[in-house]
Amino acid sequence: MNIKKHVKRGLWNHLMKSGIEMGLASIIYEVGVASKYVNHAMRTGDLGLAGTSNLYGEDQLALDVVADEIIKDRLDHTGRVSRIISEEQSEIVIFERQSRVGGYSVCYDPLDGSSLVDVNLSVGTIVAIYAGDDPLQSGRHQVGAMYVLYGPRTTLVYGASNGVHEFTLNNLGEYVLTQEYIQVKERGKIFSPGGIRRDYLPEHEEIVKKLENDGYKLRYSGGFVPDINQILLKGGGLFMYPATTKAEHGKLRLPFELNPMAYLIELAGGAASDGRRPILELDCYDLDQRSPVYIGSREEVEMATQYFK
Ligand code: AHG
Ligand code: MN
Ligand code: MN
Repeated sequence: MNIKKHVKRGLWNHLMKSGIEMGLASIIYEVGVASKYVNHAMRTGDLGLAGTSNLYGEDQLALDVVADEIIKDRLDHTGRVSRIISEEQSEIVIFERQSRVGGYSVCYDPLDGSSLVDVNLSVGTIVAIYAGDDPLQSGRHQVGAMYVLYGPRTTLVYGASNGVHEFTLNNLGEYVLTQEYIQVKERGKIFSPGGIRRDYLPEHEEIVKKLENDGYKLRYSGGFVPDINQILLKGGGLFMYPATTKAEHGKLRLPFELNPMAYLIELAGGAASDGRRPILELDCYDLDQRSPVYIGSREEVEMATQYFK
């Protein structure tokens, strides 16, 4: 095996070559470190915290909580994060000892789709990164975003000013570059409808019917990360989670699900809308803020927004 090749294409080497600010690079890298422990806990059922002190005593805790603690601990370890919000925390967490000057704020979903682990379907970690002390900013202000997909392979996708890139975890525990400057095609062949059909509002019903009539294939795993990853890497398409008669704001959360994915998809040449406005333009004022979402290839997102005019 050519060790030099592995090192050359490693995540830290890529971050350094990309000229990303050191604090932002260390946050992306440390989420990668955390993901290896999350990956281990998920695949071995070992909910102890390998490599960090055991925070839980004897009880078995949901994987969400274990993943959240591991990621929180690694973000604190960077010394460059001043505030975080997490899907698993009820309020903003402040890291007191951080250098407040030049700090970052991080919003993350430690384990999205966690209920799918029991049926051995793919799940993921989603992260949005902002400069400064305020994690509740509109998505347009992100300085970086990333996700980790725990599937047949464990892959990490990050985007900052330098494009969107994919790394794959190898059996040496290294994230090695597998795709660089990923681009979403203008138009795709798959769609994810979201929600429950009987609860659809008229506009969404029409959009789904049009996609079916145009011969798009339905792809919906119930996991946001694998469903978006498929659109990013398999040539485009449209993922939707609509407003419904039961939930006028849809289901997915703006701060740590929609904003980071919208940032990555736009950086890769795609688009993301709530049906009327770009996701990244929405004011983000509440940890639990939800929004309808139409995200993926430009042409399909544009088509969907026509129904809300
Ligand atoms: P989480 O497990 O973090 O609550 O998120 C699950 C989300 C997202 O992963 C997925 O796209 C959506 O839930 C699926 O929702 P439905 O089960 O209602 O289809
Ligand atoms: Mn989630
Ligand atoms: Mn979650």
